[in-house]
Amino acid sequence: MSSASAPGKIILFGEHAVVYARPALAVPVLQVHADVTVDVRTDKTDLMGKDWRSLTLIEAPDIGIFTTLDSLLAHQSTHPLATVIVNVFQFLGIDPPPLKIRVTSSIPVASGLGSGAAVSVALIRALAAAVSDSLPDEQVNTLAYEIEKLHHGTPSGIDNTVITYARPVYFVRGRPIETFSVHTPFTVVIGNTGVAAPTKESVGDVRKLWETDHTRWEQVFDRVGEIVQQARAAIEKGETSALGPLMDANHAILQRLTVSSPELDHLVLTAKAAGAEGAKLSGGGRGGNMIALVQPQRAEAVAAALRSAGALSAITTLVQ
Ligand code: PMV
Repeated sequence: MSSASAPGKIILFGEHAVVYARPALAVPVLQVHADVTVDVRTDKTDLMGKDWRSLTLIEAPDIGIFTTLDSLLAHQSTHPLATVIVNVFQFLGIDPPPLKIRVTSSIPVASGLGSGAAVSVALIRALAAAVSDSLPDEQVNTLAYEIEKLHHGTPSGIDNTVITYARPVYFVRGRPIETFSVHTPFTVVIGNTGVAAPTKESVGDVRKLWETDHTRWEQVFDRVGEIVQQARAAIEKGETSALGPLMDANHAILQRLTVSSPELDHLVLTAKAAGAEGAKLSGGGRGGNMIALVQPQRAEAVAAALRSAGALSAITTLVQ
């Protein structure tokens, strides 16, 4: 048996502008994770002319999947789980023995915590380890990015990158991966609106906006890029108090990009009223999560305020 686990992630600064080649900062969230186990089916050693796909079982109870790889592909030829499995073995250049694959995850789906990318990363690692050697991170990242394209349309690649490396990442599309160090750990509360919002739609709507006036929106993306640079410098120097106002400024721009929502704005205002130093939506927007920078001693009060204001969950995480 082989198993692998991958964390969730949050984008601290720079979502959406990152699609237009500006930088963004993202960090892993270790409290939530996707877990995959892969067993070789010892009850099916004799294929009797059958293809391994028809004997490979996939269980993903969180999303109600109990089926064979064959059936999943017949149902949806680009299903992300099925595509990961097919792509990994195509990449390794082998037909594996029949497998039993189990996927579970505590990461809320479609909420900006990178659930899709975490499942892909854990699955790629567990599959490779089950039949061959572990793959290097760079390869895991490339394979996971292919799957992000199915989820997102035009993904920047930030989710698969931060989740593969499980370290704070300064991400610029198309550039080599840059991880960075957190001088002084700081506390963030993540509030989930409970509204499932596909990133593909908000990314598509920002693109429509950009198409109406390239000059104007490029300037807005430039401003996001400056916020990201300032935030990275503050995190590296331990000047954490600078981050609150930067979060507020980034949120205001995301509102202009039309990717906030009444629920997100309500949670952002609630967090600030409960003592957060800054707050913003995180990820694709329109629903999903918001994040709030808090002093550690305020974390529980802010989390409680978010829950009373309708958040489905409020997770406190230490960025380090
Ligand atoms: O919704 P999430 O956390 O998967 O993040 C999307 C981030 C965007 O910048 C909106 C899109 C992207 O591909 O980077």
